[in-house]
Amino acid sequence: MMKVLAFAATNSSQSINKALVTHAAELLKNNTDAEFEVLDLNDFEMPIYSSDRENESGIPAPAQAFRNKIAEADAILISFAEHNGSYTAAYKNLFDWTSRIDQKVYQNKKAVLLATSPGPGGAQNVLGSAVGSAPYFALEVKGSLSVPSFYDNFDGEKGVLTNDELSEQLVEQLSLLTNA
Ligand SMILES: Cc1cc2nc3c(=O)[nH]c(=O)nc-3n(C[C@H](O)[C@H](O)[C@H](O)COP(=O)(O)O)c2cc1C
Repeated sequence: MMKVLAFAATNSSQSINKALVTHAAELLKNNTDAEFEVLDLNDFEMPIYSSDRENESGIPAPAQAFRNKIAEADAILISFAEHNGSYTAAYKNLFDWTSRIDQKVYQNKKAVLLATSPGPGGAQNVLGSAVGSAPYFALEVKGSLSVPSFYDNFDGEKGVLTNDELSEQLVEQLSLLTNA
């Protein structure tokens, strides 16, 4: 059975990206032989990265815990929130600390990368950064999708995409994880 690790790259308890990535993980579970876990980045909070902190106290334990979660997974689903055109501070900090253990943060795992925002841009700037830099961090991106105007295209109560075209695109991108 394929083990899927899913998370939203944000620390918001009301995260729209968490809603999207959970929907994607459920689709994958229903359409393939997959089980999934959704991480909460709040469980991996650390002080802001600094080389001084690293020299004085080493790398905090949550970074290794995050790396171990990735190691245990066969596939990864991430949905990126966009703050001022880039990663949220919460994700970037976790990523920076984890990269100090080994730059190959994602350990050659295959992934589908998603992103959404309330606006028409659909967080595609941060998604572009994540897709473009993935090879440097040993993340094998099989597919990606930006969902624009989240509140127009997603039913928050049912936890599903309501836009047929986006829904089909998501299923198609997810299928790239299981196709050889
Ligand atoms: C500091 C800050 C900066 C933001 N910058 C952007 C942005 O550049 N592009 C965008 O589409 N949305 C931006 N937003 C709106 C976020 O997309 C919105 O808060 C969204 O809910 C974040 O995703 P999340 O709910 O998964 O955390 C910003 C929000 C905040 C708080």
